[in-house]
Amino acid sequence: MLCYLNGQFVPRESASIPIEDRGFIFGDGVYEVWRVVNGRLFETERHLDRLAYGLRELRIESPDIAKIDVLAGVADRLLADNGLLDCESTLYLEVTRGVAPRTHQFPATPPKPTVFVMTNKFVPPDDVRARGAAAITATDIRWLRCDIKTIQLLPNVFAKQAAAERGAMEAIMIRDGFVTEGSHANVLGVIDGEIRTHPLNNLILPGITRAVVIDIARSLGIPVREDALTKDELSRLDECFLAGTTADVMPIVRIDERPVANGQPGPITTKLYREFRAYMDAACGAAHAGTPI
Ligand code: PDD
Repeated sequence: MLCYLNGQFVPRESASIPIEDRGFIFGDGVYEVWRVVNGRLFETERHLDRLAYGLRELRIESPDIAKIDVLAGVADRLLADNGLLDCESTLYLEVTRGVAPRTHQFPATPPKPTVFVMTNKFVPPDDVRARGAAAITATDIRWLRCDIKTIQLLPNVFAKQAAAERGAMEAIMIRDGFVTEGSHANVLGVIDGEIRTHPLNNLILPGITRAVVIDIARSLGIPVREDALTKDELSRLDECFLAGTTADVMPIVRIDERPVANGQPGPITTKLYREFRAYMDAACGAAHAGTPI
């Protein structure tokens, strides 16, 4: 399996970074995960816009990989060489501030950012989707800049681990009585025919899937209100679902061991998943940017 590190295509097992990389030492970096269908990246530009936002907030100079044609070239080569043109996969891109002696403040002379890209085969969890997934609730112990997709993910790791230990797929995080999001997906609920989800601010990641799903819902005439659900409202949801690059639209049918409504995937969730999947397939079938390098 090839990966891409700082301008080179190298076998994964021989890729290495210096121990003073600020990503390794401080978690000083950002990342993106793209869904890839038949070798084509989904929502390339929206992810690149979010990457650019994160780099600006961290004051890391934008590397070439943040340009659409450079990314497309790297992606095409990795996906082709790794045999991922006829299946589903993910593309992971990480940019750190680079290598410098360990001092907390930014190095006086900015180092060259470290750029890493890998691809992985991905099989969507459609069997779980058909019956619906379980979630737990967990206190949101993250910092106050959850809008930046940084590589510092320990609270998310803790939350997902707690879910895994209780046989659940996701942890729904609660801050001050309000539902923020999941450990690696956004959370949406349906009450009386209306979709509710946390508004975009510093407390959640502006998910690309969330944005696509909200557009689809509105185009179908389903009302969406970006107003956070309270923890108490979780117990009277008609439907609940996740939206994320690896979740797509995933029904949540149990929360903390209690069924959501009748414990089956609901009609709005099912409709949104079908429309989302069709949109993603069409988008990936049509848009093939870049040429292999
Ligand atoms: N996670 N919220 C959090 C905290 C996330 O980490 C993610 C994505 C999302 C959904 O965003 P998007 O629809 O753009 O994937 C929401 C990625 C997939 C991950 O960490 O693997």
